[in-house]
Amino acid sequence: MTDKVWRIGVAGLGTVGTGLLKFIAERPDFAPAGGRVAVSGVSARSRSRPRPVDISNLAWFDDPVALANSPDVDLFVELIGGSDGPAKAAVEAALRAGKPVVTANKALIAEHGAELAATAEETGAHLLFEAAVMGGTPAVKMLREAMVGDEIKSVAGILNGTCNYILTEMEATGRSFADVLAEAQRLGYAEADPTMDVGGFDAAHKISILAALAFGCAPNFAAAEIEGIEQVDLLDIRMAKDLGYRIKLVASADRSEDGVLVRVHPSLAPLNHPLAQAGGALNALFIEGTRIGRIFLQGPGAGSGPTAAAVAADIADVMANARRPVFQGPAKALAPFTPVDPAKSMGRAYLRFLVKDEPGVIAAVSETLAEAGVSIESFLQKPVENADGVPIVLTTHAVAESVLKAAIDRIAGLPAVIDRPRLLRIARI
Ligand SMILES: NC(=O)c1ccc[n+]([C@@H]2O[C@H](COP(=O)([O-])OP(=O)(O)OC[C@H]3O[C@@H](n4cnc5c(N)ncnc54)[C@H](OP(=O)(O)O)[C@@H]3O)[C@@H](O)[C@H]2O)c1
Repeated sequence: MTDKVWRIGVAGLGTVGTGLLKFIAERPDFAPAGGRVAVSGVSARSRSRPRPVDISNLAWFDDPVALANSPDVDLFVELIGGSDGPAKAAVEAALRAGKPVVTANKALIAEHGAELAATAEETGAHLLFEAAVMGGTPAVKMLREAMVGDEIKSVAGILNGTCNYILTEMEATGRSFADVLAEAQRLGYAEADPTMDVGGFDAAHKISILAALAFGCAPNFAAAEIEGIEQVDLLDIRMAKDLGYRIKLVASADRSEDGVLVRVHPSLAPLNHPLAQAGGALNALFIEGTRIGRIFLQGPGAGSGPTAAAVAADIADVMANARRPVFQGPAKALAPFTPVDPAKSMGRAYLRFLVKDEPGVIAAVSETLAEAGVSIESFLQKPVENADGVPIVLTTHAVAESVLKAAIDRIAGLPAVIDRPRLLRIARI
């Protein structure tokens, strides 16, 4: 045990940063290995902005890089956000100075994790980011530490609480995506610019980090296939439910002999599946290992208290000098994984067509699918009030995505089909 006092510099005093300051004020001696933490300096954009914690006694830095370089800082905590700009500059400065870094910044780690890991390895600094994925729910440590005795086959789950909240509310209230998003913004659940969340990019950052930890490679965000929830229609939520499914934004990483497929899509999960039952802002994750089998994690993916607790857990690791490679091996030997061409991936699908209400349409759609090599699993036709046509919905047996898309193109060209067919994947979980 030690009585060392760790002087911490905290850059970013928003939701997570102020949560961390509160936590440290309440429990400065929380670390199991002993020692204490004391905040020696803070940085944010506006010094005068009112904060839920008193920062008047803390040294203020306009520039987070200066805070990272301060001789009074032993451990640098980055809670600004963003893949580049001040967050990256400050993390690089701290690592170059050999100082341990703890961050909650998934964009930074997903897009620059490999180079930052190389700097950390060179200078012997820690680089920890538990809070970057699933907020307070420990997914990073699960893969980085607890499951290293296994070979991971896949990781899949709900990694964005904002999207999960919006989809849950759409189903519960029957309101459109735009209405629910506007309300979420009013209540502060969604950012003024919601693109990172609803466009699927935030979930893609997180799954790219998990893929790197699961498969021992560098994060490869550029290879992620990303589709957000902006196009999810209330009609699909209802039709999917009639077929026994719920639509969720599912992020997944699968390893096969061909490489790794990382994707984020609105996907259908069976109503009784744990992913379908993780409602509201919850996050949920399945990890499948060769020996351990399947593990399911569910918990808060955001919020001041839970996320600050994950940051604190990393600080405790630094204080205990717990050392592991940033990803699963020496940083210099890390290569980005080989991406699998999504067109070759096999999976079941949900297709919705809006067709003219005339005889022979269903037969034409079914024949076109059969000719293209797509086999139908279930079929639903339901008149919908005020619709320009009749929606028909079907699910398919497993089919290569390239085959499916070719079939959709052919169906879109049929004279009785009014609108571009809607494709949603059925989650492989
Ligand atoms: N919120 C969550 O629940 C959650 C969960 C998991 C991970 N994270 C991650 O944690 C990080 C922080 O998120 P947050 O929600 O706490 O963000 P936030 O509430 O928007 O706070 C961001 C903070 O960064 C400061 N900042 C912005 N630009 C700066 C600059 N150039 N120099 C110094 N400070 C600057 C802001 O200053 P001002 O206050 O003066 O504007 C603000 O205090 C992000 O990487 C996020 O992805 C958040």
